Amino acid sequence: MSILSGKKIILGITGGIAAYKCVEFARALTQAGAKVRVVMTDAAKAFVTPMTLQAVSHYPVHDDLFDPEAEAAMGHIQLARWADAVVVAPASADFIARLIHGRSNDLLSTLCLATNAPLVVAPAMNQQMWTNAATRANLTQLAQRGVTVCGPASGIQACGDVGPGRMLEPPELLTHLENIFTPKLLAGTRVLVTAGPTREPFDPVRYLSNYSSGKMGYAMAAAAAAAGAEVVLVSGPVALEAPVGTRQVKVETALEMLAAVMQEVKSCQLFISTAAVADYRFEEVADSKHKKAQDNLQLNLMPNPDILAQVASLPNPPMTIGFAAETDNVLAAARTKLKTKKIDMIVANQVGIPDQGFDSDTNIVTLISQEGEQAFPPMLKTQLARELINYFSERLR
Ligand code: C5P
Repeated sequence: MSILSGKKIILGITGGIAAYKCVEFARALTQAGAKVRVVMTDAAKAFVTPMTLQAVSHYPVHDDLFDPEAEAAMGHIQLARWADAVVVAPASADFIARLIHGRSNDLLSTLCLATNAPLVVAPAMNQQMWTNAATRANLTQLAQRGVTVCGPASGIQACGDVGPGRMLEPPELLTHLENIFTPKLLAGTRVLVTAGPTREPFDPVRYLSNYSSGKMGYAMAAAAAAAGAEVVLVSGPVALEAPVGTRQVKVETALEMLAAVMQEVKSCQLFISTAAVADYRFEEVADSKHKKAQDNLQLNLMPNPDILAQVASLPNPPMTIGFAAETDNVLAAARTKLKTKKIDMIVANQVGIPDQGFDSDTNIVTLISQEGEQAFPPMLKTQLARELINYFSERLR
């Protein structure tokens, strides 16, 4: 179940072309089980219709501060008190300026002034407007007042400019909102996560690697960040964006991953090793491309260092968590790894079957520690990551 289930969310829409993304965002919110009331400014209605938003939110849209009918049903103060969170997306430069000055000249600005629910704004504007000193100063003040500012992203803008000012995409906004409601069980904790495969080069165009997608590790990093941890994510090559609130360090080989981990681990309280580190690397790496020949090719592989075992053997190690992906004898192999690597816990999962392990969105795992074993039912990796992070944070305390 989503953490947004049952949460009462006001979605404020202001005038900007990014308003079209709000239809999808409102839909994602209702699908997550949130109760959504949409409030639109007049300018917003030039870009997207109230009818559309009513259809996706299942409630009439609020747009008038002086609507007697609305006041009789759910007036602006009631609406402000009703909300568990107010999200303004897109937030135009004008709306942000009005927010800073505490203006209350329409329903949405009045609501923002009248609510004590967390306020989230997702700015969207032309890149020149975004970099203008007035907008910069307003943004600094918003952050100082405890408003959560999400984005903007950089890229090609509707006006043809390229630069910062694009509204975040609905899934990213949803993550920001979920994070607001997630208990901060790891506040004040530094967490180091490794994720993805490593690539061991043979020559400048070839390498040895594995099928790890990084999904489990990225989900762990996202869940730790949502729980309030400062998260460093040391990642092998994957096709995923760094989760909101994490610092990503990109590496290719096991040796690079080891160096990055040793650099970062000292101040960490929790080390989560989800990376599928290649067990071997080539003894020799050619400087130029190996040419094809008719005879067999002999290549020598040498073992890579075990990063997790090295962390666990540090003088003051953090709490260490391993992930064991196996095709057979899963639990027995994981129990052996828990002992030989001298780590605190290991998460065992079977790979090589559909809907589980590498590249799948779901996983079935058993958590093994010295104290016992806990089997988790099949679930999404994102959900599993949240459950595991809850478990680890209890153990840390
Ligand atoms: O590959 P193996 O099954 O031993 O992986 C178990 C755990 O050890 C995983 O958490 C993995 O990230 C970690 N590991 C490592 N360095 C290696 C091999 C594995 O940190 N060279």
